[in-house]
Amino acid sequence: MRSDDVPSTSRRRLVQGGGVGLLLGAAAAGPSAAVAGPGARFAGKRVLVTGGTSGMGRAGALRIAAEGGRVAVTGRTRAHLDAVRAELPDASVVLRNDAGDPAAVAALAEAVRAMGGLDGLWLNAAVAEVGPLEAVTAEAFDRMMAVNVRGPMLQLAALSPLLAPGASIVVTASSSAYEGAASTSLYAATKGAAIAMARSWARQLAPRGIRVNTLVPGPVDTAFRRFLPDATRQAFESGVVADVPLGRMGGADEAAAVALFLLSEDASYVSGSQYAVDGGMMMR
Ligand SMILES: NC(=O)c1ccc[n+]([C@@H]2O[C@H](COP(=O)([O-])OP(=O)(O)OC[C@H]3O[C@@H](n4cnc5c(N)ncnc54)[C@H](OP(=O)(O)O)[C@@H]3O)[C@@H](O)[C@H]2O)c1
Repeated sequence: MRSDDVPSTSRRRLVQGGGVGLLLGAAAAGPSAAVAGPGARFAGKRVLVTGGTSGMGRAGALRIAAEGGRVAVTGRTRAHLDAVRAELPDASVVLRNDAGDPAAVAALAEAVRAMGGLDGLWLNAAVAEVGPLEAVTAEAFDRMMAVNVRGPMLQLAALSPLLAPGASIVVTASSSAYEGAASTSLYAATKGAAIAMARSWARQLAPRGIRVNTLVPGPVDTAFRRFLPDATRQAFESGVVADVPLGRMGGADEAAAVALFLLSEDASYVSGSQYAVDGGMMMR
């Protein structure tokens, strides 16, 4: 089995949730603003992480805040939104905002406008649906494309005027786009589109000094495969690890660390690139 974040043998399942662009507002509870220490790469920076309530997005949002940044996160699941709101500093913005709903884009832009703009944008929210080609329906195609492709496209279209000169954008793709795993054609298509979009955006936004790069995770230990029965998920993850030269799944923090490098000034001469975070899986 050579898929990363979705298995090649499982029945088609969907990770999804409901919700439209409902503004929950600035975090009302939680610790006071993090104190930016030495090496605080995000001091004075405003960064939006879509899909920032779980997994690598959540890990990145917490670290950006710890490094002095003001963070906005989106997600769909109320419990996840509440949990991350309690973890983030008071000045953070937590939005229930469905990347699959075009009507939610205006609320996202309004929240960013209230922050005064963005210095960093991590387009990370996505869903997975897997299964044989014969099981793909028009509805399934539309669901996946709506969240994973139309979502970031419309979000960036609306947020582009609000990006500060020299801002940095990271788009989360997946090694699925390259693997040719049997059951992932629909998911892989959305992630291939993400890679293509990011390259075009890098070219378009370069005159404003804005960098755009793609994060290409391999298997990362998050809740992304929560839609699978435990036994199927464990069998899949064991099979994937066998294909990873480092012999293990990555951690959410490890994936977030690479995204944060790209979002930070440490990557000031990096644009249009793809950064694999896969324990060496794609080197072959
Ligand atoms: N984990 C892997 O092995 C792996 C490998 C390759 C690529 N990726 C990619 O990595 C990214 C992050 O995934 P993860 O592994 O960190 O999984 P995760 O823990 O499940 O996090 C996914 C995040 O996306 C949010 N989200 C999902 N659908 C959304 C929608 N329609 N609108 C707004 N937010 C939505 C979720 O919000 P709620 O939780 O609030 O619903 C959550 O914050 C995704 O783009 C995924 O395709 C993951």
